Amino acid sequence: MQAPRVLSLPEPCLVVLIGAAGSGKSTLAARLFPPDAVLSSDAYRAVVSGDEADQRATRTAFAILHRELDRRLALGRTTVIDATSVTPFARRGLVRSAAARGVPAVAIVLDLDPQIVLARNAARPGRVVPADAVRRQLADLGRSLRLGVLDAEGFAAVHLVRTPAELDSLAVTRPA
Ligand code: UTP
Ligand code: MG
Repeated sequence: MQAPRVLSLPEPCLVVLIGAAGSGKSTLAARLFPPDAVLSSDAYRAVVSGDEADQRATRTAFAILHRELDRRLALGRTTVIDATSVTPFARRGLVRSAAARGVPAVAIVLDLDPQIVLARNAARPGRVVPADAVRRQLADLGRSLRLGVLDAEGFAAVHLVRTPAELDSLAVTRPA
């Protein structure tokens, strides 16, 4: 068992989980944060259309997510965004919202081996994202990491997770 890797998070902060479908964002969020702190694009798709996989609900789902994010940040509540956020466009609005409220944004990047991500997506119960879509997300994430784009986006910290063992051992602490 790998020694725990403990991320020290500012309080409050915005945590942006970044990773392709199947990389384990929702699993990680559920383990590390209280449910009310986690805003999930899939959950809002389900609210909008009754189906968390309905991509036609994306625009409305994200409009609600951003509104709820701003409401929480205005109250100084640490908030976790559970969406793929693999493109600069997807991250920009989140980082801007946090900056506007004076809250630091922290990225946790699930940069696992593509074969593991594709296998986890294919094997999971319920919603399986088409493999082509997952490959596109992996390519988008790879581009952001290779070009160093992520480091210049205004995050107070960028934490990279590269292996399932690292992911399993990840923990967070926050100042009392
Ligand atoms: P998640 O459902 O947590 O992935 O895990 P995700 O990143 O949130 O995916 P999207 O973006 O919503 O589509 C995907 C699968 O991988 C398993 C989970 O049980 C689930 O079946 N998993 C996840 C593991 O086996 N181990 C982990 O550490 C994380
Ligand atoms: Mg998820």
